[in-house]
Amino acid sequence: MGRGIYAVANWKMYKTARQATDYVEKLSPKIQCCKTNVYLAVPFTSIFSVSAFAKETCLSIGAQNMSDAKEGAFTGEVASFMLKEAGASFVLLGHSERRVLFGETNECIHRKVLRALQDDIRPILCIGETKKERDESRTEEVIEGEIVVALSEIPKEDAARLILAYEPVWAIGTGAVPTSSMIEKVHAYCRTVLGKLFGQKTAEKIPILYGGSINPSNVESIVSLKDVDGVLVGGASLDPEIFSQIVMECERIERK
Ligand code: PGA
Repeated sequence: MGRGIYAVANWKMYKTARQATDYVEKLSPKIQCCKTNVYLAVPFTSIFSVSAFAKETCLSIGAQNMSDAKEGAFTGEVASFMLKEAGASFVLLGHSERRVLFGETNECIHRKVLRALQDDIRPILCIGETKKERDESRTEEVIEGEIVVALSEIPKEDAARLILAYEPVWAIGTGAVPTSSMIEKVHAYCRTVLGKLFGQKTAEKIPILYGGSINPSNVESIVSLKDVDGVLVGGASLDPEIFSQIVMECERIERK
């Protein structure tokens, strides 16, 4: 069986709970019975209401971050079991905005991955190099470090529940997109690193998504590339009409 195709929306810090349900009301009729796995990473405040609202749809609702701690005196944090009860089935971890703006390290992201798996929330691990790191030809070294630290100690049987998202930091929100060969090369390398960690058979089961300036015009050519199993979409996911076009483009691609 193939790995399937994923279209993941990352709303970041946009939309109230009411705007979120309005969005789902508009999006869901457009993507009925989709073959593509459509995930919405919404703000914490919308998870409960949107997941109740989306129950009858093919949408999966998730969070954009969580605490690495089980529970305790951590003012302002949200634990994974709370997300689970609110209706989240997945969580974005290690997004570059979390790393750069909130100082998240690979070690902290590793603890979050383990915690999410324990509480039955599917982690989407985000990795990617900065412009400077690419210019210094350090892309492979950087992403290998991010993957190896974040995914160490993960039991092989849990590894197939992971999703990886390659997001070059310089492509996020900038309109700059790597060439097809750059994307294919990094995705193939990610698969090799996953193979070293979990064995080739398990590595073949882990979806690897691309993120960074995805829009309805470039999604088809990117998702058609080898080892690209879908997209993580920021800006272009905020409008249900535009995001539905992205999902429709994914639907047109032959199953991988
Ligand atoms: P973008 O963001 O699609 O706006 O580039 C992607 C992301 O941050 O996940």
